[in-house]
Amino acid sequence: MPDASGSASSSSSQIDHVLIEDRKFPPPSEFTAQAVISSEAQYQELYDQAANNRDGFWDAQAKENLHWFKPYDKVCEFEAPNAKWFVGGQTNASYNCLDRNIDAGIGDRAAIIWEGEPGDTRTLTYRELRTEVCKCAEAMIELGIGTGDVVSIYMPMTPELAITMLACARIGAVHSVIFAGFSAESIADRNNDAGAKLVITSDGLYRRGKVLPLKATVDEALAKSPTVKHCLVLKRIGNDDVPMKTGRDVWWHDVVDSQPGTLPATPLDSEASLFILYTSGSTGKPKGIRHTTAGYNLWAKKTFQWVFDHRDDDVYWCTADCGWITGHSYVVYGPMSAGATCLMYEGAPNHPAEDRFWDLVEKYKVSILYTAPTAIRAFIKWGDEHVEKHDLSSLRLLGSVGEGINPEAWMWYHEKIGGKKCPIVDTWWQTETGGIMMSPLPGITATKPGSCTKPLPGVIPKIVDETGKPVEDNHGGMLCIAEPWPGMLRGIWGDDDRFVEQYWATVPGMYLTGDNARQDEDGYYWIMGRIDDVINVSGHRLSTIEVESALVSHPAVCEAAVVGRHDDLKGQAIAAFVTIRDAQPDEALRKELKLHVRKQIGALAQPDDIRFTATLPKTRSGKIMRRLLRDVASGREIVGDTSTLEDLSSLAKLNDED
Ligand code: WTA
Repeated sequence: MPDASGSASSSSSQIDHVLIEDRKFPPPSEFTAQAVISSEAQYQELYDQAANNRDGFWDAQAKENLHWFKPYDKVCEFEAPNAKWFVGGQTNASYNCLDRNIDAGIGDRAAIIWEGEPGDTRTLTYRELRTEVCKCAEAMIELGIGTGDVVSIYMPMTPELAITMLACARIGAVHSVIFAGFSAESIADRNNDAGAKLVITSDGLYRRGKVLPLKATVDEALAKSPTVKHCLVLKRIGNDDVPMKTGRDVWWHDVVDSQPGTLPATPLDSEASLFILYTSGSTGKPKGIRHTTAGYNLWAKKTFQWVFDHRDDDVYWCTADCGWITGHSYVVYGPMSAGATCLMYEGAPNHPAEDRFWDLVEKYKVSILYTAPTAIRAFIKWGDEHVEKHDLSSLRLLGSVGEGINPEAWMWYHEKIGGKKCPIVDTWWQTETGGIMMSPLPGITATKPGSCTKPLPGVIPKIVDETGKPVEDNHGGMLCIAEPWPGMLRGIWGDDDRFVEQYWATVPGMYLTGDNARQDEDGYYWIMGRIDDVINVSGHRLSTIEVESALVSHPAVCEAAVVGRHDDLKGQAIAAFVTIRDAQPDEALRKELKLHVRKQIGALAQPDDIRFTATLPKTRSGKIMRRLLRDVASGREIVGDTSTLEDLSSLAKLNDED
């Protein structure tokens, strides 16, 4: 425990570590017995090979895992910040996800098992999926789309969303998926930044029983998107009153359904852009993160196989929307390159009731479930009875992604969903990294609640201070990646300067993740939150997640977000925003929570303010928006009735970011 005297140097960029978490869960022996990676020695060998002979290791992986129309001349060319992988080679991600599986004899395996929010269902085998992808690609060619053209996709989570992504990949068009909740303004910004030529959308989508008119939003965006020539519209809802602009708009059923569906995949350069995905940093306009074909495809596939221990009979469900990177890498490219059977669900987790996810797990006998802490915390809040109604015994592995998972939420996931028998893979990664970077390997890693444990083969993390020097053991610092990996971003679309400044200028030669982390005595990594979110109390730099986890370990607390606000005496004071269950939001609870944190992690970390809120402001992908809460903590007014519970959700609605 650091003392509160302020003796630590305030110029040091190290972060004090205050939360002690010593529970440890070895993998169940039955799991290890059948696992793809089943011994520590096997992992160590892979890790050492990748670290000591990078090019040799990835050469072998690329040959084994991807189809090559033309072999590459060189495995990797790297001069920070620019990386090229499998230089001179030609492959195709759609071929790797479809044709390669069909050629391997699994064409009749279900690729997508889909359920819409109203309960309609559809299954597509790999062979059927290829036909649909080819038809869509053939229609895109008729609409004038070719290699290198950008296609914006603004679609519900229907099979057609995956189909359009793979159809772009088939002809070398660059997809830019825009989550179907963003505003017209955001769509227009993204269309213009990328120079999109085609937008693919639908007449609407179902969300909590209501219809959202997607095409109407797209029409508004297209009025401000001069580069877009056509709009391809899927009839999802059956809305007959969708205005179609002659010469610009075409119905999917008019131009896709009648195609032959036989188009061969175009051989594409390894470094051809596969997609752009926009993500916002804490400031500024969204960045178009650019990923390329071969390296990304290989990274998505290998990380999927390593982390999810995939077997032929698995039914795998990643609950992410394809509007996020998790949907790109772990709904489409990773699992499909590996020939997995993926469940896809269109709607909300609480429609028609709070047990929809568990109903789906039971109905489709899902064996691997990959979801986010924000969902897990919602399930906890909704109550265990929704879970207990269902038979979840098909599950054998659970995953988490997107934010740190508080140890108490981890324990709930482990006990209530996993029945104490499923390993949990807490996967740390980013849009920029293309795929998972750190995660337990479920057959071998003893997990600790809240830790993403160890790096995958090919990932060389370093934790450094602002001068680039490694921090002391068990102290937090900036998490960097020291060596290139195949799935790394290749740049920000149209903004090379920002790419350098954001990721490569702070610590020369290394990729700066923007997260803080520490490594414990077992060599496990613990993500401590974003660099910008560190709170400096009397010269001690504290991690948001540690204070939040201490709060969440109190039975009355569901979710917590802490931020720093100015304090004349201490530099910064800690302001906590909490959502609660089965408790009164009163002064007594406030006092109790402060004491609870003090007991858990020390006086220094005791929040100065505790505010009870009905909801926390979140990005559309479910991350807590601490930046907004900083404004609130330092005095920004909140509209609405604040007499009992503050409602901060309206704040998030004002910010179209993710
Ligand atoms: C955070 C999502 C702790 C982190 C794949 C990262 C996590 C950012 C974890 C990237 C995790 C993601 N533990 N923090 N397991 N996974 N994060 O680009 O701050 O949406 O930098 O990619 O989410 O978010 P993005």
